[in-house]
Amino acid sequence: MAKRYETKIDMGKKQREAVTKLLNVRLADAIDLSLAGKQAHWNVKGPNFLSLHELFDKIVGAAQGWVDDIAERAIALGGHASGTVQVVAKSSTLKAYPVGITASTDHLEAMATTLAQFGKLVRAAIDEADKLGDADTADLFTGISTDVDKYLWFVEAHLQ
Ligand SMILES: [Fe+2]
Repeated sequence: MAKRYETKIDMGKKQREAVTKLLNVRLADAIDLSLAGKQAHWNVKGPNFLSLHELFDKIVGAAQGWVDDIAERAIALGGHASGTVQVVAKSSTLKAYPVGITASTDHLEAMATTLAQFGKLVRAAIDEADKLGDADTADLFTGISTDVDKYLWFVEAHLQ
């Protein structure tokens, strides 16, 4: 059972628990995405090596920002953030990033798939947070999904 903390925030306990649960699942996804980005950053090879090496690390940097914002929203709601690799391995809902690939087109395709999947999950989380009456968390997810869409464009532009 996740830990809870008292807070004077003007949101009910049930509401905060439901939002914190939602935040923790997307937290696991975002950490998974950040690690996939490093996997691509390190292993990519091909004619556009340097630009892709840098692009994938930019995605990692962005994902680390999403991770921090999602985790700290859970804490602000009096909840707990679970972000160890063991928890993430169990909780992430993203399709596993392929570990054996090197070719730039393979990494671009895999990263596009990962970003698109995460973007879809975050967009669904906007509606879920809205339904739970938490416009602030919905806004957090809205900002993240806009960013995800931008990086998906950057990645897909290399394939088009
Ligand atoms: Fe590096």
